[in-house]
Amino acid sequence: MIKKCLFPAAGYGTRFLPATKAMPKEMLPVMAKPLIQYGVEEAVEAGMDIMAIITGRGKRAIEDHFDISYELEHQIKGSSKEYMLKEIRDLINRCTFTYTRQIEMRGLGDAIYKGKVLIGDEPFAVLLADDLCTHDGGDGVLSQMVKVYEKYRCSIVAVQEVPMEHVGKYGVIAGKEIDDGLYMVDTMVEKPEPDEAPSNLAIIGRYILTPDIFGLIEKTEPGKGGEIQITDALMAQAKEGMVMAYKFKGKRFDCGSIDGFVEATNYFYEKGKKES
Ligand code: G1P
Repeated sequence: MIKKCLFPAAGYGTRFLPATKAMPKEMLPVMAKPLIQYGVEEAVEAGMDIMAIITGRGKRAIEDHFDISYELEHQIKGSSKEYMLKEIRDLINRCTFTYTRQIEMRGLGDAIYKGKVLIGDEPFAVLLADDLCTHDGGDGVLSQMVKVYEKYRCSIVAVQEVPMEHVGKYGVIAGKEIDDGLYMVDTMVEKPEPDEAPSNLAIIGRYILTPDIFGLIEKTEPGKGGEIQITDALMAQAKEGMVMAYKFKGKRFDCGSIDGFVEATNYFYEKGKKES
């Protein structure tokens, strides 16, 4: 069973300045819910109940969000708005939230490594909250990946096909398709130029990692952009053993960009209208 989900959430969110000057980008709301809450809900749906969050300076609003606000509870009790806190109260009751800080921004691989102290020696999920995923009634992306993990017991990355001109924004994989939408990875490159990309299968912000990844990150030299890349550590893991890439079912919005954020907002607005 995978019980822990790691949320790297130390990044600055410079694409959303000035909104993110004093507020974590993970707290930007799509409709009335912050991005990181969508992520925690997806992890809970996949059976996880320990949320390990890698924060940084200026991110305290995340900790406050996953805590009780007594003053607010007191104000709202018995009012018509009380139902609006139901979902977040349920999450607080069901989950344990643990935190550690990434002091310097040294890349996603380094952020994940900082989580070693919270994760220990067990397989775990990683969720990047600015990749907002939905599934229209089916299993969430992490649930789908847990099922793949149960069968293959190795690290898994979620992938989606992107237009070739966009591959430079992602980690890109290539491998042998062993089942419908499931690849045994043999190559992985972080943010390649389109003419050097091994395919158009881009990694999105969902991973299941086996704990030997921590030792591999320790040995990973700075890569693209001078940062420690999880893609490079996973490539080493693929060479040593096995890594799978899974083409997930559902939709993904890149809420790290204004375009994706607006698309997500429109999508959830329309969905909410249909449901009400
Ligand atoms: C990170 C990873 C990249 C992955 C992407 C998914 O990049 O390094 O491999 O494709 O997340 O969102 P970032 O978007 O943090 O630059």
